[in-house]
Order: sequence, then structure tokens, then C-alpha cells
Amino acid sequence: MTQKLIIDTDPGIDDAMAIHLAFADSRIDVIGMTTIFGNVTTAQATRNALYLAEMAHYDLPVAGGAAIPRHRAGAPPADFVHGDEGFGDLPAMQPAGKPDNRDAARFLCESCAAHPGEVIVCAVGPLTNLAAALDHDPSITQTVKRVVVMGGSAARHGNVSDCAEANIWNDPDAADAVFGADWDVTMVGLDVTEKTQCTPEDFARLAESAPVIGGFLEQASRFYFDFHEAKTGKRSCFMHDPSAIIAVTDPDLFGYERHPITVVCSGSEIGRTVIDPKADRRSTQIAMTVDSKAVGEIFMRYVAAADHMADARKNMA
Ligand code: BDR
Ligand code: CA
Repeated sequence: MTQKLIIDTDPGIDDAMAIHLAFADSRIDVIGMTTIFGNVTTAQATRNALYLAEMAHYDLPVAGGAAIPRHRAGAPPADFVHGDEGFGDLPAMQPAGKPDNRDAARFLCESCAAHPGEVIVCAVGPLTNLAAALDHDPSITQTVKRVVVMGGSAARHGNVSDCAEANIWNDPDAADAVFGADWDVTMVGLDVTEKTQCTPEDFARLAESAPVIGGFLEQASRFYFDFHEAKTGKRSCFMHDPSAIIAVTDPDLFGYERHPITVVCSGSEIGRTVIDPKADRRSTQIAMTVDSKAVGEIFMRYVAAADHMADARKNMA
């Protein structure tokens, strides 16, 4: 049976990698995408998500989400990581399709209610839409199967500050609401996502195997490699968002601990995810270790077949 999935996303270069991985993996049925600010504005994220779906001939609704965080002013988009339009140096894309007429929160609630216990929501951007969904219809905690979040860090480690990861830092209040709600959450944080890395040679191979989709990712990722090289001195990139998709399809490739998590919402540690055994909230399943070789191989194997899968969908339409 295929796993129904909604991807909440701010595409974004590694978001594009994650989305094309999910589209190419027949174990997953992506029933929708919801969009959020972070790497780009929400309007750009919606446009980019529509464009990625059209590139892969994947017919699915895309619902636009919140434009700003819940209780504070938003930070500017991370264009220094993902480029002005979200895909490195590539220009703005012009998809033909239009977004769903529902907003992301309503779309999330209605989609989970339509398939109780069957839908996994994989959030690879700031968690504003998920927190809004909890407000819109609190019964989503009962209708969703589980929530997988790319964000945070169990160790005191960050990529925006020394202790805060970008998706959590962009809307800490929303993240705290998500970790505090009564649903099954898995956190796929920097503890594991920085352990799996890909190189320009990997993307060159993908461009050869899948000239359209692999070729697009190869071009977009050049900017991402520049950013990583400036930061780490190595021309290899962290596979943040694809790791969250692989935690859905291949959960056994990760080792977990279960603890309640709270999020620091003010002060110098704002955006830090804190393991707090005393917190009166449900435990989060936290990915602590990863078989990074196997995760990298899964990414390469499925994305190498992405054009083939896209052609098959086109021919079926
Ligand atoms: C997360 O932040 C964004 O830049 C990436 O797309 C990823 O979701 C990593 O911290
Ligand atoms: Ca992202």
C-alpha cells in the first residue's frame, strides 16, 4: 500500500530535492503540498511548488499557507542559501497551474479528515501552517497518522545561531505548539540531516540518469554547494529535507529516542529545541542516529529514475 503524504514546504533547493524524491518513490502518494515562507516568501514557495509538480507531471493540489510567523515579524527569506527565487541562480519559474482555493491550514485539516489515520504530514519548512491547522480544527491530532518534521536539533547545535535550526527559528511559537500538541511527531533534526551529504559528482550522475529532473537539481544545487563550501570548506551539501522524506519511507534507517520537546521562544537561545523530560507534554520521537550511506543511496536511486516516473505519469494522463 502506498503511503499518503502531504509535504509542507518552502522550496528551496533541498526542498526541491525532497519533493522530487517523494514524487519518484512509488511507495508514496503525495496527495498535496502546502507552502510556507522561509527559504523564499510564501508566494514564491507556492509558485515553486506548482512548478516542481508540473515538471514531474504530478497532478496534485498546492495550497498556499501563512505569509508571516504567528506572533512576531518574519525574517527575510534565506536567499543567501537558496537564491533570489528559491532555486539557486535559476530565474523565476512560471507554472501554468493555480493554487488550491483553500488555505494550507484548512487543506491540511480537510485532507486528514477525509482519510482518517492514513495521512502523514511531512513538514520541511517553518511550522506556522501546522500550528494554524491545530487552531483551525484541533481534531487533526486524531485524524492525522503522524507528523514528521525536518527541524531542530537534540544536541545544542544550530545553523542560524549556535543553537537554533532555521525552520524552528523562523517561527518558534508555532514549533512549540506543534511539539506540544497531542499527535505523533517525529523530529528529523540537524543531528541526522547534516550526517548525510551529497557532492556535485552525485548531482552530475543524477543529471545524466534523469536529464530533466536530475538536470534541474544539478543546476539549482550549484548555488547550494557554494553556500556550503563557504561555510564548511567542503563542496558537499547537507541533505536536510530529503532525510525527512526518507524517515517516512525507511524509518528503520534512523535510531530514535523519545522525549518531550519544548522550544525557546525568546532571549539569546530563541529557536532552540530543548529536550525536557519534565515537560508536561507528549514525547516526540527524535532521530538521533542515521545510516547515512543507505539514506544517500535511496536518494540517488529514486531521483535517478525521476524522469522515467514522470514520463510514465505523462503517458497515463
Ligand atoms: C532547513 O532550512 C531550510 O533552509 C532548508 O530547506 C531546511 O528545511 C534546514 O535547516
Ligand atoms: Ca525547507
